[in-house]
Amino acid sequence: MMRIALVEGDGVGPEVVQATVKVLVALVPDIELIELKAGLQCNKDTGQFLPDETVNGIMEADSCLLGAVQSAPAGTPGYRPVVPMLRQKLDLYANLRPVKPIVGDGPDMVIVRENTEGLYVGEERVEELEDGTKAYVAERRYSDLGMKRICRFAFTYARDNARKKVTCVHKANVMQVTDGAFRKTFGEVSQRFPKLRTDELFVDAAAMFIITDPARFDVVVTTNLYGDILSDEAAGLVGGLGLAPSGNIGEVHSFFEPVHGSAPDIAGKGIANPTATMLSAAMMLKHQDKVGLAEQIEAALRECYAAKEVTKDQGGSLGTQEFADAVVKRL
Ligand code: NAI
Ligand code: MG
Repeated sequence: MMRIALVEGDGVGPEVVQATVKVLVALVPDIELIELKAGLQCNKDTGQFLPDETVNGIMEADSCLLGAVQSAPAGTPGYRPVVPMLRQKLDLYANLRPVKPIVGDGPDMVIVRENTEGLYVGEERVEELEDGTKAYVAERRYSDLGMKRICRFAFTYARDNARKKVTCVHKANVMQVTDGAFRKTFGEVSQRFPKLRTDELFVDAAAMFIITDPARFDVVVTTNLYGDILSDEAAGLVGGLGLAPSGNIGEVHSFFEPVHGSAPDIAGKGIANPTATMLSAAMMLKHQDKVGLAEQIEAALRECYAAKEVTKDQGGSLGTQEFADAVVKRL
């Protein structure tokens, strides 16, 4: 039996998770779902943004599906960005972000983003300068272990998934100590995977090539900030954020979530596209070695898209839950 934790979160989070639960329950009738809370609404209800109960509940489950968490306004007491904190607490060092259209030709790349270090370690401070003004400082930290394991993850993923090339994206020309170390580690790890081709790009050039020549990318490995930005950019090539799934993966724990956030501009209207969350659930099933079940979700989604039974952001007329019903019908 599979025990899956659910963290619906804020905004469209509950809408896309509930739509995905319809699909999961239809596919795995004896699935055990454990509802946990995190985010802004959770803070209103419990006084905490990320209760220990939620972290422990995810650890005890086989895996977890997360909707989205809305950020609190700057200066909110006790607040730290919830999703990055969860990644750090569960030591989910790899963020896997596939970029591929559901139907038709297009790019087919996987961005492997380092998920616990870099500029998102959350160490920001304000310094008083001698002239009475202030400077706003953020620390950026890469550890030997952190760089080695993310590069290994990318190469191992490439090998196990019949990929051919791994591209390292960095900015070592300017950030010579930090990104220079990332680039060097990539080169060292690559030696152990002689069958895979390697490539490297500065992040600014990579941002352009994702648009002008996406076919040059296969597996991309990069740091936390660059991976965050490039994966949203790449999602724009394959139908937008409503279609982009992701997995947060560590040695022991994992959670899967759409790349998008809480989408406050469309929350509560019943129009959010749950495809990204359904694809994230398929990634979750693959991670549990239930490849056949994952492929059933992907096939049902492909059929819906081919038949234009899709949500408004994709040119269709279905609402979030209607789309879920259409997917369930095609399972
Ligand atoms: P967003 O990803 O929530 O939305 C960006 C744009 O994409 C919006 O126009 C939105 O309507 C559209 N969009 C997003 N998901 C969609 C879906 N499923 N179907 C159709 N359209 C969709 O990013 P935004 O607006 O920058 O951030 C909103 C909040 O979400 C912020 O508080 C941010 O911090 C948070 N956030 C949370 C993330 C997480 O929980 N992992 C990730 C990214 C942002
Ligand atoms: Mg992002």
